[in-house]
Amino acid sequence: MNQKKFRVGGNLLQEWSLYKGQAARRRQALASAQAPEGGQEALGLARLLHPAQQHVVVKKIETQREDCKTFWLGPDQEAGQSELAPFLPGQHLALTALVEGSPVSRPYSLMSSPAQARQGLYGLTIKAQGLLSRYLVEQAKVGDRFTLTGPEGDFTWQPLRDAPHLVALASGSGVAAFLSMARAVREGDLNLRMTLLYTCPWQDGFLHKKELDGLQGSGVEVRYFCPDCPDGSLEPLNAAQVDRAAGQEPYSLFWCGSHEAMAAFEKLIPQLKTKPQSLRAGEGSVWCAPQKGKSFRLRVHARTVTYTIEALPGETLLTAMERAGIAAPAPCRAGRCGFCRSRLIRGGYRVAPGFEGRLKGEEAEWLHPCCTYPEGDMEFEIYPV
Ligand code: FES
Repeated sequence: MNQKKFRVGGNLLQEWSLYKGQAARRRQALASAQAPEGGQEALGLARLLHPAQQHVVVKKIETQREDCKTFWLGPDQEAGQSELAPFLPGQHLALTALVEGSPVSRPYSLMSSPAQARQGLYGLTIKAQGLLSRYLVEQAKVGDRFTLTGPEGDFTWQPLRDAPHLVALASGSGVAAFLSMARAVREGDLNLRMTLLYTCPWQDGFLHKKELDGLQGSGVEVRYFCPDCPDGSLEPLNAAQVDRAAGQEPYSLFWCGSHEAMAAFEKLIPQLKTKPQSLRAGEGSVWCAPQKGKSFRLRVHARTVTYTIEALPGETLLTAMERAGIAAPAPCRAGRCGFCRSRLIRGGYRVAPGFEGRLKGEEAEWLHPCCTYPEGDMEFEIYPV
């Protein structure tokens, strides 16, 4: 039988005396330490690149369509924000606003360029779909103040991985990330050639068409497609159109849009005659059609504390926790980073479209509250940092 052996005697006493008071000594040493030369600048740069939070104010609102607006956000000087964090075209921000007294957040792709961020402006095009987006489109006004986390995300063109020719497939508001890239190409912040194939179910529903048309010829080419164009002036998008856009040179293929559109784009890939050097799918949005009626009771364990809270119809577990004042970890709020992973104890749930894999096998024992909706009373454990 294996038995653990414990050392006793002089050596152990010696070690104990070495460690005695070590925490206090470490604190003292840290407090009196000199920062290495340049350390403060490095710290300042790190804070600018990766802020815990940004405070912004709405500077301007542009109506794109009845159900869709562009919000231009600037730093909220009153909240101590003097500049905006830089970002890579294709990244997103998570915006938090108070909706009916509860904090609600959602990620949105930036449609503005890095140069505009340097001048103190972020642009987000938001379609009235889901609790927060509907609130923003229907009620937000110039002067409203919000908080942001991010920029985040790896739906970005990288010169080491991607080809200098980018073929981009967009549908609906999924064009936002590509508009940001196209602006960056024109402004010299992205050194690539881009062919954007933009498809929309309605011939007159293309977002940002005027800006996109204005970008044509500066390293950017835009072609429009419509699956069911009434006058036949636009063709539906198919694999042959993608091959034609790709041409003979190496290219990378990126796509972004609603979950249905993303699935349709992905069906084109096996039909291509050309072979993309790299593939990159957009980060989509975390959104489920809300279910009417019932709210549910959630028991949430966070270390030594257990909360009992209510989830309103159509709320993610994350939103319900935030509304109840529970500081749940959620850097991306988009089902991407895995940081909010929590342990299911009991209860049924559904996930936002695109995250169905999480309902299978071992994954089903774990939740990502940012993209999970309760289907009854639930109990789960979160891991706050
Ligand atoms: S916050 Fe990133 S996966 Fe949930």
